[in-house]
Amino acid sequence: MTQIPIEPTKSGASSVPVGYTSVAKCEDVPDGEGRSYKIGGKSIALFRVRDRFYAINNICPHQGASLGKGKLKGYIVSCPLHDQQFDVRSGFGPDGGGYCVVRYDVKVYDGYVWVNFKPKDWFSGE
Ligand code: FES
Repeated sequence: MTQIPIEPTKSGASSVPVGYTSVAKCEDVPDGEGRSYKIGGKSIALFRVRDRFYAINNICPHQGASLGKGKLKGYIVSCPLHDQQFDVRSGFGPDGGGYCVVRYDVKVYDGYVWVNFKPKDWFSGE
C-alpha cells in the first residue's frame, strides 16, 4: 500500500526553518510549473501546485533527465526524455509503482522556499 506523505504547509513556517536551506524565491516558481536547482551537490526539482511547493530529486532514475524541466499536470510530472511519470507529493509513480525518486520536506518562509535535504524514508513515514 502506498503511503502519501503529508503535504507541506501553504502558509509556511513562522521562523527560519532549522535544518532547511533556502532554495528559491517563491515568485521564481510559477504555479503549475517546475524548476531545477543545484544546491550543495544536490540536484532537486521544485514544483508549485495550487500555491504549495514540493521538492523531489531532479534526476530521473531511468536515464538521468532533469525532472524539473518536465511537464507538470496536476501533481504528476512527466520526464522530458521518455515520459516516465512521478507524483511530486511522494516521488512515486502515479500508480504507486515503477520508478521512484526521493522527496524532500519543504517550507515557505519570508518569501523563499526552503528545503530539508534529509531524504524522507518512504517506508517508515519518517
Ligand atoms: S530519462 Fe526519464 S524516463 Fe527516461
